[in-house]
Amino acid sequence: MLNLVLFGAPGSGKGTQSKKLIDKYQLIHLSTGDLLRSEIAQGTELGLEAKKLMDDGKLVPDAVVNGMISNKLDANKGAKGFIFDGFPRTTAQAEALDQLLASKNESISVMVKLVVDDEELMHRLLLRGKESGRPDDANPEVIKKRLVEYHSKTEIVGEFYKDQNKLQSVNGIGEVDDVFNAIVGVLDSLR
Ligand code: AP5
Ligand code: MG
Repeated sequence: MLNLVLFGAPGSGKGTQSKKLIDKYQLIHLSTGDLLRSEIAQGTELGLEAKKLMDDGKLVPDAVVNGMISNKLDANKGAKGFIFDGFPRTTAQAEALDQLLASKNESISVMVKLVVDDEELMHRLLLRGKESGRPDDANPEVIKKRLVEYHSKTEIVGEFYKDQNKLQSVNGIGEVDDVFNAIVGVLDSLR
């Protein structure tokens, strides 16, 4: 299996690159942000709780996202592999994911980190906020809070995978296709 953690700050291009990668490698795309927005759209209790935190740019509790990922792994037995997009976002989530995969005799193959500076992230998210309909893109203060959450709680997850010799960084600035080719270079070097 190819199990990729696509890592990076809000707006670094995780969703954009995931769409291209699932086509090339026939992987299942698991974005906890997309899963949470789908819960919100369906008006579930979990969605209602998550919405308050997401609209405020805060992370939702580890147990909530760990549970969603566990369900999706079970629902996709026989998959060629997974792209984890926006998950794990805390060290506790990374530990939970390792345990979940180990219980299925699987593991993370590699973490690819998309490196983009905060100024460019802000620019991209404000631009998307004009049309995405995502409440967390509409307000510069909420975007700033998401970046603070990233730097204070999430960025350190890179160290977790670095310690396992699984962290690979890619320049996330430039043409979408150039970033894609750099990721493909990393993935193909694993084979
Ligand atoms: P989530 O949905 O994961 O959002 P995010 O991390 O804030 O990231 P985005 O989806 O905004 O960015 P992206 O990296 O996917 O970039 P994209 O490709 O879209 O999470 C939302 C919220 O859910 C969180 O704040 C939290 O509350 C909650 N949540 C989710 N997962 C959680 C977890 N595990 N634990 C706890 N809470 C969780 O690109 C962004 C824009 O840039 C687009 O407009 C795109 O067109 C553009 N773009 C992409 N690539 C380029 C390029 N190379 N050049 C120029 N523009 C580009
Ligand atoms: Mg995304």
